Order: sequence, then structure tokens, then C-alpha cells
Amino acid sequence: MPVSIDLTGKKGVVFGVANQRSIAWVISQRLAEAGAELAFAYQNERLQGPVEKLVSTLGEPTILECDATDEDRVKSVYEEIASKWGSIDFIVHSVAYAERDDLGGDFSAVSLQGFRTALEASAYTLVPVARYGAPLMGESGGSIITMTFDASVKVYPGYNIMGTAKAALENEVRQLAAEFGPSGVRVNAISAGPLPTLAARSIPGFNEMRRAHQDRSPLQRPITHDEVGNMALFLLSDLSSGTTGAVIPVDAGYGIMAL
Ligand SMILES: NC(=O)c1ccc[n+]([C@@H]2O[C@H](COP(=O)([O-])OP(=O)(O)OC[C@H]3O[C@@H](n4cnc5c(N)ncnc54)[C@H](O)[C@@H]3O)[C@@H](O)[C@H]2O)c1
Repeated sequence: MPVSIDLTGKKGVVFGVANQRSIAWVISQRLAEAGAELAFAYQNERLQGPVEKLVSTLGEPTILECDATDEDRVKSVYEEIASKWGSIDFIVHSVAYAERDDLGGDFSAVSLQGFRTALEASAYTLVPVARYGAPLMGESGGSIITMTFDASVKVYPGYNIMGTAKAALENEVRQLAAEFGPSGVRVNAISAGPLPTLAARSIPGFNEMRRAHQDRSPLQRPITHDEVGNMALFLLSDLSSGTTGAVIPVDAGYGIMAL
């Protein structure tokens, strides 16, 4: 029997759309195609126009400004969403930032401020996003996903402090999964191979990473945005109901190879 994912009647919040190349955007398109209703939280005023233009192609979604490092703002975004919808079913956290100076060069050169900035934006933000979002998930629970990268466990020259941030993020996924599991809320991460996006453009050696995937992954090609969108759809649907606290690669198998 063919299986299809139907999210009709499901509602969720997406953090991290900046433009049409954003991973969060491709995930949003998949979710909308499956029938889900979406609210978008964008980072700052600068993104308001472009994000409004982009997401309005999905109808008339709720669009709210939210710097995710501002916990009060995260809380009030969920309050606004709760007053509109009452409850939510899923959350997409697709947020990361590091100072350009802290990507590339010697890892040991990272400043405390650079360390804080990267860890705060790229790892800590999942905590308030889950803390204030999970309680809005009803009795049937819900699903939260975040985006990570293999540099959490291996050294990718150039990725530097973001590797540290992704290691912290993956640990949070496990701790949040354990905490919210009894309420039926699942928390998982997708570990995506390199995709050309705004954030990826700041990573020195990004093109070499794509080439390495082409040359050395079992599938012998880089992954696509759509493949990440499909995995997100699976993790945010009941098809993945037995999975939580996991870091699931969408990397053409690159992560299993030593050479
Ligand atoms: N592109 C890749 O190759 C790749 C691979 C693996 C994982 N990822 C991860 O995917 C996620 C999305 O990145 P992307 O590649 O789509 O790039 P992107 O630049 O499109 O998305 C990053 C998003 O983070 C948002 N953001 C940054 N700081 C924020 C803050 N303080 N508050 C709210 N939002 C903030 C930006 O506005 C942007 O929308 C990131 O976690 C990234 O590390 C990307």
C-alpha cells in the first residue's frame, strides 16, 4: 500500500528562513505541500520584506520577528501563536551564526566573545525554542527538529567554532528528548551534507566540502535541498513516531567513510 505523509490540520513554527536557499524554506515548502499550516519567525527587520515576500507564496501564514537569542521575544512569539492557534504540533529550528573571523584560521584563535556568539546563536537558541514551544504541544505530543553538521564529531578545517556549537547542539537534542519524551514531544537533528546557502557561504573550504562529497561519499554526489526537506517531513510526521534524541545524517553516506 502506498504511504503518503498527510499533515492536514497540523500546525507548526519555523525559525530560520532567510531566503529561497534557506534549508528552513525547503522544509517549509515540503510541510505546506503535505497540508501543514505554518508560522514563520524571522531573525530581524532586515529580513522582514524578503521573508514576507517568500512565505506569502504559501498563502497567508503568520509572520513574526524573533531574534532567537532574545528569550523574552521567543516567549512572546509563542504567546502570539498560542493566542491564534491554541496548540502546535511541530517546530523547525534552523538557526546558526558565527562571526566570519571565527570561521577559518586557527581554531585556537577564537575569542571568548566569538565563542559566546556562535554557541549562543547556534546552540543555545534551541533551548528557549523548545522550552516555550514544547508546552504548546497538545496531549498527542509533537516533534521538534534542528539542523546540525558532521563537524560536531570530526574536524573540518574552516568550520572551527561552528563544530563546537554543533557538538553542543547535538547534546541538547539528547537532553531535550529525554526531558520532553514523557510528554510525547520528540526532538531530533538532521545532519545535512553541505548545501549552498547564505550561512554556507561564510564557511572557508565550503566548495572543497562539496567536492569531497562528490568524490568520496558512497552515493558519489552532494546531497540536495529536497533530500533534507524530505527527511524533515518524515521526522515531523507520525511516520517517525518511534524516533527521538537522534542525529540523522542526510549526507550521501559521507560520514561512514574514512577515506
Ligand atoms: N548549508 C549547509 O551546508 C548546512 C549543512 C548542515 C547544517 N546546516 C545548518 O542548517 C541551518 C540553516 O542554515 P542554512 O544553511 O539554511 O543557512 P541560512 O543562512 O539560510 O539560515 C540560517 C538562519 O539562521 C538565522 N539566524 C541566525 N542567527 C539568528 C538569531 N539570533 N535569531 C534568529 N534567527 C537567526 C538566519 O536569519 C537564517 O535564517 C543552520 O543551523 C546550519 O548550520 C547547514
